[in-house]
Amino acid sequence: MVLVESPGRINMIGEHIDYNGGVVMPASINKKLLIEIKSSTSEYSFIKSKLFNESIKVDLKKFKRSEVSWHNFILGVLDNLINKKGFELSNFHCVIGGDLPVGAGISSSSALICGLLKGICLINNLNLNKDDIIKIAREVEHEYIGVKGGIMDQFTIMNGKTDKLILLDCRDRTHKYIDIDFNQHKILLLNTNVKHNLSETSYNERVHQCGKALKIINGKDNKYKFLTEVPLEILQKFKTHLNKKIFNRALFVIQEQERVHKAYNKLMTKDIYSFGELMYESHEGLRNLYDVSCEELDFLVDFSMDKKYVIGSRMMGGGFGGCVINLIDSVFLKQYINDISDLYNNKFSLNLNSDVVTISNGLTNR
Ligand code: GLA
Repeated sequence: MVLVESPGRINMIGEHIDYNGGVVMPASINKKLLIEIKSSTSEYSFIKSKLFNESIKVDLKKFKRSEVSWHNFILGVLDNLINKKGFELSNFHCVIGGDLPVGAGISSSSALICGLLKGICLINNLNLNKDDIIKIAREVEHEYIGVKGGIMDQFTIMNGKTDKLILLDCRDRTHKYIDIDFNQHKILLLNTNVKHNLSETSYNERVHQCGKALKIINGKDNKYKFLTEVPLEILQKFKTHLNKKIFNRALFVIQEQERVHKAYNKLMTKDIYSFGELMYESHEGLRNLYDVSCEELDFLVDFSMDKKYVIGSRMMGGGFGGCVINLIDSVFLKQYINDISDLYNNKFSLNLNSDVVTISNGLTNR
């Protein structure tokens, strides 16, 4: 039997720019899916999710898309390996558990896809390296699930290291590791427990709008390969050629890229307060220009603003729900969680889940 531990990811800054050729600053965390998998001689494969307390049975010779969302992550992996890549796979039994929350914007979907891919490779002796797994995982999300995401999640899950942020250039995946040093500040995730409808459609719509902005700016000479490469002055020249929405999307992307570079410099000079300011600015952009935040997320960020001990706060991941990432002084942590949870619950009649996370290794197996 093989046990794969596949972590979730955070992103300190650099949201919605991975698919625009941007540089982002994610890390893998100590919240993980645990995927136990072994070959079997039965006629079918069985996959059980402890989280949903539900199992599926798959005939590897013929299967089709399911109505149940989590099934499709499994089926997408199998479809890619068997039907697209032509691998012959043995049947297997698999149990998926762990403590990684689903739908919280910390990439449980990529953790599942990458983890299952790794497990299947191991029990079938398939010779796929990390880069192959990243590539296939992305194909599954694009082609089977239908979300046209970037490479940040899969790359981070496969390459994360304990106590290090990754500065990842999504154009060519060059990267460097940054030692974290937030002093007494902890990384607190507050999960809104909402996932608004159309989040996937709206995500793809943002991808499309960015492509459109780039196309118009490029005109005939295709000077810029990615939107993050367009200088702000050039975008300003196109203000009248782009409709307001498209202009705002592009403005956010270019500014967010700028912020990542600034944030990196702030970390290098150990100026974590300015780093935190940039997190707030990122949220403002995501809220007003990119329009991927929501009332619940904004409430959590707004509440933190006059608390000196919260040095940075912003929505994280694709948005339209999910969670807020905060950098908060550990002394005030407990009280803060109590206060904000009560207020959130009163206002939205929803529970607020809180997790203090640490930065931990990427995917491992034994
Ligand atoms: C999702 C996608 C990522 C990235 C983020 C937003 O997590 O899977 O590729 O685009 O949203 O930064």
